[in-house]
Amino acid sequence: QILDAVVITDVLIVGAGLAGLSTALALPESLSITILSKAALEVCSSHYAQGGIAASLDKNDSVADHITDTLIAGAGLCAADNTTNILSAGQQAVQWLCEQGVPFTQIPQANKKYNTEQKVFTKLQTADLHLTKEGGHGCRRVAHADDATGRHIMEALTIKAQAASNITILPYHEALYLLTDNSDNRCQGAQVFDHIIQRQITFHSRAVVLASGGLGQLFQRASAPNVCVGDGVMMAWQAGCRLANLEFIQFHPTGLALGDSSFLISEALRGEGGRLYCPQTGDRFMLEIDERAELAPRDIVARAIAEQINNNGLGYVHLDVSHLPAEFLQEHFPQIYQTLLALGIGITKEPIPVAPTAHYSCGGVVTDANGVTDVAGLYAAGEVAYTGLHGANRLASNSLLECVVVGRNIAADLPRYLKALENLDTAAIYESINLSAPTIWTAPTLKDTQAITLSSFITHPLTSDDYEDTDSNIDTNNQAGKITTELKILMTTYMGITRTAESLEQMLIQIQQWQQWLEKSELSQPNINASDDAMTIDKLAHFQLARQLQLATLIVQSACQRLESRGGHYRRDYPNLAATARISVIEPLSNQAIC
Ligand code: SIN
Repeated sequence: QILDAVVITDVLIVGAGLAGLSTALALPESLSITILSKAALEVCSSHYAQGGIAASLDKNDSVADHITDTLIAGAGLCAADNTTNILSAGQQAVQWLCEQGVPFTQIPQANKKYNTEQKVFTKLQTADLHLTKEGGHGCRRVAHADDATGRHIMEALTIKAQAASNITILPYHEALYLLTDNSDNRCQGAQVFDHIIQRQITFHSRAVVLASGGLGQLFQRASAPNVCVGDGVMMAWQAGCRLANLEFIQFHPTGLALGDSSFLISEALRGEGGRLYCPQTGDRFMLEIDERAELAPRDIVARAIAEQINNNGLGYVHLDVSHLPAEFLQEHFPQIYQTLLALGIGITKEPIPVAPTAHYSCGGVVTDANGVTDVAGLYAAGEVAYTGLHGANRLASNSLLECVVVGRNIAADLPRYLKALENLDTAAIYESINLSAPTIWTAPTLKDTQAITLSSFITHPLTSDDYEDTDSNIDTNNQAGKITTELKILMTTYMGITRTAESLEQMLIQIQQWQQWLEKSELSQPNINASDDAMTIDKLAHFQLARQLQLATLIVQSACQRLESRGGHYRRDYPNLAATARISVIEPLSNQAIC
């Protein structure tokens, strides 16, 4: 038997993506930092990011213009203070990445050379960078490294983090629960499952940073890797954090529609002139829908494509770039060019079949621009968090920027928190939490999800009782796998680009049936705190499914309650904007004793 282990570290970072590594590299070297990655290091959304990082770097651009474009895309739901704070730090954030050795694409005259010894570009400045354009941006504003910006950024930062003597990175370590002190609601670490030797580890830390990514894999087609099922959001909620705007799932308009591929076709292709066509008629349909055509904000383009697909029955529309010079495409989009060529599509000559794909959660764990959450000692950054920057619909390439800025802001704030902790200065420990709350929130629409009874939604019960069977011969793990797959299909069908009360109610009923099946299954509620009942791989599958069903319920309930269409949330039965822009806030799970 492998005994439970205990590890002590100053700062525990859950997630090794851009938010996690930016935080770790910006924290003082005197702190011991442990970074957990649920799978291999490159299995994270940051690594997959193609387009780039948005910042007002051009001499004709301004932070004010970047803010304006972000607020327009966000459809009235951006938190003004945090948006200003984060976007104002854009230039410094990109400059910091240059200094970490990120090989951004340069304008031809810059021609900065790579210093192989120091592993950085000599004196690469933001003024040297080539900027591309993406939907919703009024000008060229997106710094990039070819069309694989995330991979290049992550490679540079990983080299730095691995070389830092105070940072330990642990791949294949999955956080299960956050540890909070019941007496003063401080976060003190996490319960973790080590997939390599399949044992549970208790990490005690003075502070925890959640940088665990999003929840795209609750959907059938998603650009995120398969680890992104919203663990961080649920851990924070269970620990006492509010969640906000979970109904705003952003669908990227152009995922590759070939088999079950989740490969993204970067918006930068449309930014550089790519056009969308109906495959049967050759109609360039975006021209009739929005004056910005293919460069309208993502929600508009994704909905238009979904509408075309509904009518054409093909499962895709065409994205065509064959009118652009072949040399330019090969040089600026080498990853897309090569990947598609290997799949038999020559983008310089033929169109690409594309369809919307679940891409980004605009909601998440409530934080301020310093990543401060409702729980002392717990910070959150990146897709897991809700700063309010993305409002109802994220502006392209603002997410990588948010990871770097908020990660570095956390690194600046966290030593203050540790000092207060050391001095047992209670007022200082809770200071920023008290400051952050009133500046962000408007009237909540969802006070307490526990109080929402399913019966208030049920009007069209499903006839299927596929998941009622609790026959002991049924292989419970197969059943859990089957439900996980079905959940994705239903989330896409009922909670996808367009929603109605009826579809959302169907979804809730089905989730409830699955939850009942799980409750009946012996393994569904492992007591992971009891040493004689530690987490095992078998129990983990059920534990993960239970959590995914709970999160899906919160998302669908949030969508049920929003009786309007705004940004990424489109209700067929409520196609108009409500008069007042409101944030949906889910209160923390009450009376939940963890640890
Ligand atoms: C893309 O390259 O289209 C993705 C960029 C983003 O999601 O911000």
